[in-house]
Parts: sequence; structure tokens; C-alpha cells
Amino acid sequence: MWKRWVGVVVVLVASVYLAWDDEPTCDKGSLRGARVLVTGASSGIGSQVALEFARHGSRVSITARREGRLEQLSEQLLAAGAPEVTVLPGSMEELNVARGVVRDAVRAMGGLDYLILNHVGLSPISWWAGDDAATELLMRSTRINFLSFVSAASEGLEALEASGGNILVVSSLCGKIPSPLVAPYASSKFALEGFFGSLRQELKLRNSNISISIATLGYINTDTAVSQVQGRLLGVEPAPVAPCAEALVDAACARVDSIVYPGVARLALMLHRWAPALLQRQAQGAYNVTALGTPPAFTRSEG
Ligand SMILES: NC(=O)c1ccc[n+]([C@@H]2O[C@H](COP(=O)([O-])OP(=O)(O)OC[C@H]3O[C@@H](n4cnc5c(N)ncnc54)[C@H](OP(=O)(O)O)[C@@H]3O)[C@@H](O)[C@H]2O)c1
Ligand SMILES: *[C@@H]1O[C@H](CO)[C@@H](O)[C@H](O)[C@H]1NC(C)=O
Repeated sequence: MWKRWVGVVVVLVASVYLAWDDEPTCDKGSLRGARVLVTGASSGIGSQVALEFARHGSRVSITARREGRLEQLSEQLLAAGAPEVTVLPGSMEELNVARGVVRDAVRAMGGLDYLILNHVGLSPISWWAGDDAATELLMRSTRINFLSFVSAASEGLEALEASGGNILVVSSLCGKIPSPLVAPYASSKFALEGFFGSLRQELKLRNSNISISIATLGYINTDTAVSQVQGRLLGVEPAPVAPCAEALVDAACARVDSIVYPGVARLALMLHRWAPALLQRQAQGAYNVTALGTPPAFTRSEG
């Protein structure tokens, strides 16, 4: 009997939580002429975020490794309404490149209002093997997915302070809820939450002009994500990219501390908080274990 009541209360609380649309308020007009740098702009969510800023008349700098893709996007951004586009190709695996890209963007646009840190590399879904190759991948993943965010943000602080700017960090549910088969990716996303959450408190303590927004994304329909997830995780449908990008721009513009997209991802966060064992059981059931292949044998290093 009491179980039914627990169920009813959980459903009620969940509905209120999900319906609670702390819809960020933002004057979109303020985006006209704003100076924006988007990383990881050559595909997926980054391209769409750049387009969304362009539609509002922002000046946009875009970066990623594939220069051809950036040049193509640059045409689209100009057509969509960006008065000016700067293409800055480079690899975020090099931390001095991460700093250099921000420096060049600030120079090209004469300042910086929005720093959108979105790029991601090396996030295969696979068992943690624990050997030297796995360790190497973890270190590269830490550099690309975490340390370069820190370098880029640090380089931008002076310009962002002068403009009262915003840093948007694109993270993931994997940065809040431990998930199997993505240990290198998940740990870099957890690190982002820790670092930028801490930096945000520090900025408030010193009355800084800079705001930091952290985005916790669920499964979004980008080529990379779908090719990784399809067949391996069952019964999950990706959310469309364009509305996700729109929500990210709204969040940065409104300077909210955090945004969760899509809304249903909040249910996962809520379960993680209140019923972690239940969530883990549900999640484990979604993995197509045969498609994941045989787990590697555990080994130890010689010597
Ligand atoms: N899609 C999802 O389901 C999902 C879920 C949760 C969180 N997210 C987060 O959303 C963000 C965007 O994901 P996405 O799905 O749009 O991925 P995506 O389409 O693969 O885009 C990743 C971007 O990062 C760039 N990049 C990769 N390695 C790089 C490097 N070494 N240096 C510089 N740039 C590099 C890629 O461009 P180049 O290859 O040209 O360098 C590309 O522009 C990521 O932070 C991801 O963790 C996505
Ligand atoms: C804070 O930002 C505003 C613009 O939003 C600017 O006028 C002011 O000078 C900035 N303050 C500092 C300390 O840079």
C-alpha cells in the first residue's frame, strides 16, 4: 500500500520538476553585434550554435581542425546574418593552440562577449582496458576535452571581464552521472563541472563581470553521437540539434548557471539524486551487451 503512495509522490514531484521551466530570460536584441567564439564549430552542435548567433546578428569566430568545413560554415553564417566571420583552424590538443585561438579571436573582433566551449574529441564507447594504450587515450582525452577548455577560458578572462561576458561550457549527463564504457569521456566532463563550478564561485567572490553557464546535455542527434550510440544503447532516441543549439544560446544570453537539455534529462538527474540504484538498474538494462564485444582481459604492466 505505502509503495503506491511513494509512487504517486514520486510522479507528482517529477511532474512539477519537469514542468518547472526556469526559462532563461534574455534580450535577444543584445546579441546583435556581440562578439562570439564557438569551438568545435565544424560539425554537430557547434555549427548550429554558431548559426543561431549569426541569425541574431552576432559577429562570430569559429574554430575546429577541419578548415574546409569552417570555410563552408563561414558562408552560411554570413548568409544567415553575421556581419563578420573569422575562421581560426587549429587543434585543441595543443594547449598553446587553445590559448592562441582565443587570443586571435579577441584581436580579430576587438573583444569577446561569448566564449562557447563545445569541442570534443576521442569519446569512443568501449570497455576500459587499463593498458598503456588506454592510459594514453585517457591523457589525450583529458587534454582535448578538459585542459584545453581551461586554457581557452583562462586566455579569455581579461576580455570577458571588460565586456561583462559569458563562458558557456558544453558538458553532458556523463559529467554528472557515472556511466559505463565512457570512462575517459566521463572523467573529463566531471572535471569540467568541478573546475568551472569552482571558478564560477571564485568570480562571484571577487564581484567579477564574468558569468559561467554549464550545459548538461542528454543524447542529441549529431552524426558523432548517433554513430557511437546506435546499436549499443537500446531504447534511447536522440533529441534534435537545432532546438538544443537555440536553448544553449538562450542560456548563455540569460547567463544562467546551468541548463539541462532536453528536459527529460532532468528526470535522469532527479533519479540519480533520489534513487540512484533504480537509475543504474534501468541504465544497465539499456546496454546491448552482445554489440559491445567481449570485455578485454585485465592485465598488469611488466616489471
Ligand atoms: N551529441 C550528444 O549526444 C551529446 C551529448 C552530451 C554532450 N554533448 C557535448 O556536446 C558537444 C558537441 O558534441 P557534438 O555531438 O556536436 O560532437 P561533434 O559533432 O563530433 O563535434 C565535435 C567538434 O569538436 C571538434 N574537435 C574534435 N577534436 C578536436 C581537436 N582535437 N581540436 C579542435 N577541435 C576538435 C570537431 O571538429 P574537427 O574534427 O574539425 O576538429 C567538431 O567540430 C561536446 O562537448 C559533447 O561532449 C553531446
Ligand atoms: C564590466 O562590464 C561592463 C560592461 O558590461 C564594463 O562597462 C565595465 O567596465 C566592466 N568592469 C570591469 C572591472 O572591467
